[in-house]
Amino acid sequence: MGAGSVLAAGSLASFLQSCSKNAGMGNAAAAMPAANGFSEKSLSVIEGSFTTPLAFPKVAGNSGTLYAQQTLAAIKSKTVKVWGYQPNNMLGPTIRVKRGTTINYILQNSLSEPTNVHWHGLNVPQSMDGYPTDLVAAGSSFNYQFQVKQRAGLNWYHPHPDKNTGKQVFMGLAGLFIVNDAEEAALSLPAGAYEMPLVISDKNISSSSIVYNPGMMDIMYGYFGNTVTVNGICSPIAQVATHYYRLRVLNGSNARIYNLALSNNADMVIIGNDGGLLKNPVTVNTILLAPAERLDILINFEGQPLGTELFLQSRTFTGASAAQGTQAFNIMKFKVAKSVTGNYVVPAVLSSIVELSESSAVATRNFDISNSGMMMMQHTINGKAFNASRIDAAPAANTNEIWVFDNSKGSDPHPMHIHGVKFQVLYRAGGRAALAPHETGWKDTILVLPKEKVRVIVPFGTATGKFVFHCHNLEHEDDGMMAQYQLS
Ligand code: C2O
Ligand code: CU
Ligand code: CU
Repeated sequence: MGAGSVLAAGSLASFLQSCSKNAGMGNAAAAMPAANGFSEKSLSVIEGSFTTPLAFPKVAGNSGTLYAQQTLAAIKSKTVKVWGYQPNNMLGPTIRVKRGTTINYILQNSLSEPTNVHWHGLNVPQSMDGYPTDLVAAGSSFNYQFQVKQRAGLNWYHPHPDKNTGKQVFMGLAGLFIVNDAEEAALSLPAGAYEMPLVISDKNISSSSIVYNPGMMDIMYGYFGNTVTVNGICSPIAQVATHYYRLRVLNGSNARIYNLALSNNADMVIIGNDGGLLKNPVTVNTILLAPAERLDILINFEGQPLGTELFLQSRTFTGASAAQGTQAFNIMKFKVAKSVTGNYVVPAVLSSIVELSESSAVATRNFDISNSGMMMMQHTINGKAFNASRIDAAPAANTNEIWVFDNSKGSDPHPMHIHGVKFQVLYRAGGRAALAPHETGWKDTILVLPKEKVRVIVPFGTATGKFVFHCHNLEHEDDGMMAQYQLS
């Protein structure tokens, strides 16, 4: 339910007043009056003891069954009810295949409500994309089949039912989907134990269950959790060797943006993003990662004394407010526990990426994502909430278009995601007024902070049909901040 659907604009003041005294606004919410008159929440993270070993979801190949179910999993020191695609885990298996593989997965819906699977980042036919109203009823199953035609990269899968994606993902339904190819293999990147897929997601947990109960303020800002998990484990520790590691990071959170850094301020070498390898590595000390974005980073533990401990952490950042999750906290600990010989050299050239020229575009479309006209009471794109029977853009197959996401009058961060394509970011005006180091190459999700306007070029392919695009703050998406294009 969109907050806007129950509130006339005139009741804004009384709504805000009631929110600031009302505990019904969500369990993570402790209201504090802010200077602007809106109530701001305390979104502090409760760190664990960093003693539970990091673990990884099991790896699966080209076929299998995803059993969407309620199950039990140990997140902190306690075992609670979660949703997952396999027993005893809140995440599904990590599907790992080579480019060219045909995928054959059955979704068995053992939940008591409809669900579906969207293959985020994979370019698949409309019928396989988890369109928001293509649902698999409770007790039913659906066979997802498609060929993976795209380059190597870290993608993921999660449910996508209209107005119910936020809950299902927060409860634990998500998994990684890794594509490998020859271009990547030729680089001999750190592999095996030296390659760590990391799904970072924040949860709220009662004594018996993950809890998803967004109130009105959570719909405005997104639903945040006070327990940050990595691969389903709160505050884990990873014992590492004196070697380079490849961390493959997904921000699987509903709303929380992380400003990733290492506590000793060590370099992080970004080698890839949503769309696979960058052209060249870029070294950073902090990097913002919004919901649904992915990062491929190399970290060097070579020469570190045994016993060295450091944290992967999230630092505070500018461009958003405390109510939008700018808190600082530790995410996981690394402990150097084993000495090995390593003299890895990061390749200077990673992949070849042809830059699309702006002049190749046949159309420019502007999407106002500021939500300024609605007094922030419902999230929309161009002032319209999602409607499955309305086409918002009709590009032609095999053409390039420029899409502009305009948040210049807005006050919320919006990670914008387009289904069915990978795009290149041309520029960002306003706000940070520059591209972040992981925004070169190919992307499918782009963070647009308040005051920013981002221009991307989208090469549409041959997958005709209806595909959605939306804010990947899942409360915004469920509230209506989603539209669709029809490719023909
Ligand atoms: Cu990951 Cu339409 O979403
Ligand atoms: Cu997607
Ligand atoms: Cu949003």
